[in-house]
Amino acid sequence: MIRFYLNNELVNLGEARADLTVLNYLRENKSLVGTKEGCASGDCGACTVVVAELNSAQDELYYRSLNSCVTFMAALHGKQLITVEHLSTSARDHLDNKLGQLHPVQQALVDEHASQCGFCTPGFVMSMFGLYQNTTAVTRSEVLTALSGNLCRCTGYRPIIEATMAVCNQARSDQFIRGRAETLANLIALNADATQSSGNLLMPRTRVQLADAISENPGANLVAGSTDLALEFTQQLKPLDTLISLSHIPALRRIETSETELTLGAASPLNDIQPILLEHFPELFEVIDRFASMPIRNQATLGGNIANASPIGDMPPVCLALNASVNLDNGTQTRRVPLNEFFVDYRKTVLQPREWVDSVVLPINKSKDAFLRAYKISKRMEDDISAVCAVFSLQLKDGKVSSLSSGFGGVAATPMSCRLLEQNLLGKTWSSKDCVSVGQQALTAVFEPIDDVRASAQYRSDVLANLWHRFWLETNSASQAIQTRVISHA
Ligand code: FES
Ligand code: FES
Repeated sequence: MIRFYLNNELVNLGEARADLTVLNYLRENKSLVGTKEGCASGDCGACTVVVAELNSAQDELYYRSLNSCVTFMAALHGKQLITVEHLSTSARDHLDNKLGQLHPVQQALVDEHASQCGFCTPGFVMSMFGLYQNTTAVTRSEVLTALSGNLCRCTGYRPIIEATMAVCNQARSDQFIRGRAETLANLIALNADATQSSGNLLMPRTRVQLADAISENPGANLVAGSTDLALEFTQQLKPLDTLISLSHIPALRRIETSETELTLGAASPLNDIQPILLEHFPELFEVIDRFASMPIRNQATLGGNIANASPIGDMPPVCLALNASVNLDNGTQTRRVPLNEFFVDYRKTVLQPREWVDSVVLPINKSKDAFLRAYKISKRMEDDISAVCAVFSLQLKDGKVSSLSSGFGGVAATPMSCRLLEQNLLGKTWSSKDCVSVGQQALTAVFEPIDDVRASAQYRSDVLANLWHRFWLETNSASQAIQTRVISHA
């Protein structure tokens, strides 16, 4: 049984299909049609809802904006789901023919004339609401990040951004803030219930239970963030009869650091690991900030991005360049595989039947003269798939290349490193302009990108060569480098 609060109403959902999305549940089962369907693929934000959940210490609430079209009901277990209908007291009391008040975020949109046709507005309201609950003051950049998953096709973004700035930088008060202690207590009580299944949805709590669930349901799909798997249901109309959720196993959400490495549980949402990643690798700010959108990063997991072996995911190139390994588990045995041996063909990996990705291990390099750059080339800044993603990690010793590792997306059937690039540059004097041509020749020899809707093969080849040149310029102080702007997460 999936148990959650729909605003203040406790829901015990026992009979739902495993692949029921939160959007379909709201619109079709509950007639809550304020949450809109635009793209049904996590790209427009019309379906944005907010989920309140306990932090790991169970002493505070965190409000996550989610794209309900790509979220299965399993994600709600133990949480509070809030939709646009629950914000204004007027909407709630409308049933009793009472007049009430808009929520401050809704009123701010009215005050700034920030809505025209209104189709996108509920989604913007919910993204603003998530930010309003989680912060006490915001910068413009934080507002842009919070709204990165929402598209508006008629109003223009200026008034929406100004409304968000205004409301999130004033004293906050609403029924959710006033009722926070009660919500916290409700969710703590709900999370004491260790339910492990709901129909064809399995929610194991330990690795042994997960191994049992997999062997008893060999045809089931594993699901964590669901932002990719849900597309099979919403875009290809393929039913997903049995799902095994990885989101309720604490070990799969662990974050551990040692002197030499960072271990990230595979089911950790990207937004949860962003602070620790940026603490150790601040150069990754842009590529992480541009990974899909805020609501997608609130769900999508590092392990999912790697395990689905998509050639256009952004985290595999990053992890390849960082010389990551993956810990694989089957419930009785674990093994560690270097990431550059993990991908074997288009959407194929070395994962054996009944095996899953437990965690991703990133070595921490504290040496001097180490340079890391991650470049994402796409048509839009936010919420877009890379035409090319290129990541380079360089170590110099006495001005010469002592090691180089790389990762690329969008230029081959799998995410790939370029061994030839790494070998050919070894021992070269980095300030020498030869490094540019040697690197470009290696990249051209190794990669034969394809034409598709995102970019032509020629464009991709040219971009690869140019990004290598840019990396050389940025990291070469003798050449008056263009310095990448590294924006602090704080
Ligand atoms: Fe477009 Fe969900 S309907 S993101
Ligand atoms: Fe029409 Fe945004 S107000 S799409």
